[in-house]
Amino acid sequence: MTSDIASVSLPDGERVPKLGQGTWGMGEMPARRAAEIDALRCGIELGMTLIDTAEMYGDGATELLLGEALAGLRDNVFLVSKVYPHNASRRGVIAACEQSLKRLKTDQLDLYLLHWRGSVPLAETVEGFEALRRAGKIRHWGVSNFDTEDMEELVATPGGDACATNQILYNVARRGPEFDLLPWLAFRKMPSMAYSPVDHARLPKRSPLDDIADARGISVVQVALAWVLRQPGVLAIPKAARVEHVRDNYGALQLQLGADELAAIDAHFKPPRGKRPLEML
Ligand SMILES: NC(=O)c1ccc[n+]([C@@H]2O[C@H](COP(=O)([O-])OP(=O)(O)OC[C@H]3O[C@@H](n4cnc5c(N)ncnc54)[C@H](OP(=O)(O)O)[C@@H]3O)[C@@H](O)[C@H]2O)c1
Repeated sequence: MTSDIASVSLPDGERVPKLGQGTWGMGEMPARRAAEIDALRCGIELGMTLIDTAEMYGDGATELLLGEALAGLRDNVFLVSKVYPHNASRRGVIAACEQSLKRLKTDQLDLYLLHWRGSVPLAETVEGFEALRRAGKIRHWGVSNFDTEDMEELVATPGGDACATNQILYNVARRGPEFDLLPWLAFRKMPSMAYSPVDHARLPKRSPLDDIADARGISVVQVALAWVLRQPGVLAIPKAARVEHVRDNYGALQLQLGADELAAIDAHFKPPRGKRPLEML
């Protein structure tokens, strides 16, 4: 996937944009539809061409909206969707993927993720993903909300080491993965995909993020996003349903936080000093 913005490598060397777009909550309110499509298309134009969705979002309504937003643009986008754990049996994953493809008006996903771990054995899900890959319905597969021990189990499963990424909750206010999961993924050259990278724009009031934002005349959200993006091997998928938010997020790619600013952030949002179970939304 080519793009003018910074990129990270998948394990097979393919490069994907470091800053993408989330879609959770989109496509559910008719009155917001046009603005959401404008926002997504603006992001694509800026180069934020990795777009994340899921069959779960709006019970398929978000994929339908995205299918509409991508009309004429599909080839410019690295499209990611996710399968529910209860659909992740060998056959179920294939049927779920077919439905997602229909809603998205495409014949192939660039990346298909297991949304979180359920009761279906991992070996079955991997078999389903690999069958989809052989059939050309998906190009890569990965997981989401997998903690370090889940990742260990996955790569010990036949075919499991083909996992392309782990999409996890990670932002300046939720730094648990820094202790073990981010290093584990980095060691295996698997990028981490940070979801809720701006913590839903509900970051604590009056923190060093505000001081940095005030001093630089930029938004707190942009500072928080730049903080995530500065890390190699980490890509972020903020969701923004307004063009002004999309442009603000894009600006985070240009923002270099200084050593003093990073130290002030660390003093307030302390890095983990021990294992914390992976949080999820
Ligand atoms: N794998 C999983 O289990 C999982 C879980 C959660 C999320 N995700 C994925 O990750 C994506 C992002 O996570 P998220 O949606 O939970 O949270 P998020 O991206 O951290 O925050 C989204 C919220 O922040 C606002 N926002 C975005 N940019 C802003 C800006 N520059 N200034 C002010 N407000 C801004 C958005 O407002 P507007 O929409 O009004 O612009 C929206 O209310 C999701 O959409 C989804 O694709 C995956």
